[in-house]
This record gives sequence, structure tokens and C-alpha cells, in this order.
Amino acid sequence: MKIDVSHITMIYPSGKKALQDISLSAESPNFIGVLGPNGAGKTTLMKLLIAGLLPTKGEISLDGKPLLSQERYLKSQLGYLPQNFGLYDELTVWQFLDYMAALKNIRDSKAIAEVLERTNMTALRKTRIRSLSGGQRQRVGIAQALLGNPQLIILDEPTVGLDPEERVKFRNIFSEMAQDKIVLLSTHIVEDVQAVCNRVLVIHDGLIRFDGTPAQLIAQTVHHVGTCHAQPGDDAPDGCQIVSKVHTADGIRSRIVAEHLPPCAQSCEPTLEDAYLYCIHRPENQKNIREEPAAI
Ligand SMILES: Nc1ncnc2c1ncn2[C@@H]1O[C@H](COP(=O)(O)OP(=O)(O)O)[C@@H](O)[C@H]1O
Ligand SMILES: [Mg+2]
Repeated sequence: MKIDVSHITMIYPSGKKALQDISLSAESPNFIGVLGPNGAGKTTLMKLLIAGLLPTKGEISLDGKPLLSQERYLKSQLGYLPQNFGLYDELTVWQFLDYMAALKNIRDSKAIAEVLERTNMTALRKTRIRSLSGGQRQRVGIAQALLGNPQLIILDEPTVGLDPEERVKFRNIFSEMAQDKIVLLSTHIVEDVQAVCNRVLVIHDGLIRFDGTPAQLIAQTVHHVGTCHAQPGDDAPDGCQIVSKVHTADGIRSRIVAEHLPPCAQSCEPTLEDAYLYCIHRPENQKNIREEPAAI
């Protein structure tokens, strides 16, 4: 499977421009982490990819044909976990998945048993959804996205609200399922991307700020991360973004990212989190997209 997104701009009817001139291609297997702060445009991009929104400008194609002409094929090959996923509280886990399978035209109950197994939910299949914990509900969400072994899996913030142990379990499910598919996983948790993705897309303020491997994102951050000592009450050095602060016996040790490290800073090895913060705070990435007047 191959997806091509070509020069997409999305302006909502309110006049809000959520994405500007976005282009990207993905061919299976590809596990793409979509990183960006809240409001960056991640959900908008995902809704465009599932044909749930029509772009204002630009084109999306699936295996070389326009997405809209491929809606049937898309539906049969798509697993989607929306950001705000509603579940039917009164149904049991099995009943809910049976319902979702029917919507996807999947008739064989083996498909349900299989996704329950993969998400470790078999023992809970007769439990009503209202009695599940947050993590278990998310697992049901993932399970429905995996029904029918889709080739394109789009997960919008699947790990929000999960505790660290649950996040690790999810990552294992994701990396198992990614082997021959295109998976897009949006998050603002950098560790999720680090653990499973072979490609990272950083979106900030409606523009793609980076598209490459995690290692490439880290490589462009070398010499832009450092630690420096400060006293309580000192301001951060000009042009620096503080990643973390540790109080020590002789003051505060800050980890900073900056275009030009100040003389007081000692350069250190970047992590993916440093690299992400550096990417969205780089002066060249501070250009904002133009807003359009509201449509009448
Ligand atoms: N239906 C909508 N109408 C108007 N503006 C919207 C709508 N949905 C999202 N937006 C705006 O578009 C921008 C991108 O939103 P979204 O794609 O949800 O970002 P993210 O998922 O990265 O948090 C935000 O400024 C958001 O307020
Ligand atoms: Mg979102």
C-alpha cells in the first residue's frame, strides 16, 4: 500500500487554517510517529487521511488513485482509533467488537477472537464496557482498529491517559502489528515514538517541521543541547528553551536547547525529547501560517 499526500491545505469553515501545504508519502511497511503540541494539526491530518474531511486544497491518493475514488477499498483496509473514541457502555467487550465487525463487513467471529487475543482482552470479553478501566477501554479501541487485519492503521493519541506500564504494553502491541503495514500514531509523548517508530513527523502550527528517522532528528540537535548551572531566581539564558531543571546542593542544573548555546552551557548528547523541543523552537520553525478570513 502507498499513500501520497500532495500539497494539502485545510481551512475549517470558521476560517481557521489547520494545515498548510503538507506533502508526504508513505509505503508499507512504515511506522510513523506524528509528534506535535496540542493544536498542531495532527488530528486534522488523520481525518483527511481517512477521508473524514475534505481538504481545501491539494490531493491525497491511495495506491496511485484519488482517495475519494477508493473509499470502498480504504474502508476495507483501514483501522482507525479516533482521538475521542466513544464506546457503548452497556455492551460487553465482545458485543461491541461484534458490532464494529459488522460495520466493517467482517462476518467471521474468529476475527474478534484474534484481536481480543492480540490486545490481551480475551478474559474480559464478557465484561461490560462501563466496568472497564481507562487502559482497558483504550485496549478495546485498539482491538476494534485491528479488526480484519487492516493494512493502514491510524491511531490518534492512543496512549493518552495510560499509566507507564500500560503504555509499554501498548507499544508492544504496536510494534508487533506494524511489520507489514502503514501505521500512523499521533502523540505528544516522545517516548512512544522512540520505542516503536521508524519515522517521525513533527507538525507544529499546521506545518511539517521535520520528516525523517528518529536518528536524523537527534543528529540535527547535536551541539544544540547543554546543561548549565543557575541560582534560584535567575532567568533562562536568552534564546534558550529549558527541557528540565534539577535542584542540586550548589544551585539549579538546567538542561537547555538553543540555536546557539550560551558560554555557560556544557554541550551534551541529545535525546529524542531534546530533539523534538529543539525542532519546534528553532527560530526558522517559528514562522506561522497565515490565517484566512472566515468564510461567510
Ligand atoms: N472543526 C473545527 N473547526 C475549526 N477549527 C478546528 C476544528 N478542528 C480543529 N480545529 C483547529 O485546527 C487546529 C488543529 O487542530 P487539531 O488537528 O485537532 O490539532 P491536534 O490534533 O494536533 O491537537 C487547532 O487550532 C484547532 O483549534
Ligand atoms: Mg488531536
